[in-house]
Amino acid sequence: MKAKVTINSVEYEVNTDPAETILESCLRAQIGPSYSCLEGVCSFCEAEVSEGEVKVNQGYETDLHPKTVKTCQTFPVSKTVKLKYLKNT
Ligand code: FES
Repeated sequence: MKAKVTINSVEYEVNTDPAETILESCLRAQIGPSYSCLEGVCSFCEAEVSEGEVKVNQGYETDLHPKTVKTCQTFPVSKTVKLKYLKNT
């Protein structure tokens, strides 16, 4: 599984795992997304999902369009997901 992740206008490709949040995969790959709390509170890790399917932990879902998620609470479902971090690092 892979995620195509854009941070500060640069696109990275990251290996993902359904048991790992998208933020955890990005941190493991050392590509430097913004984050702080890792608990779904600060919103620094928000990203827009433009392709693919993700699963968001209960209580952290949003109905924003384009789909905006807190990546510390979001897991990949489809083979490929594409997302763009909204906060600059
Ligand atoms: S790191 Fe704080 S909401 Fe995700």
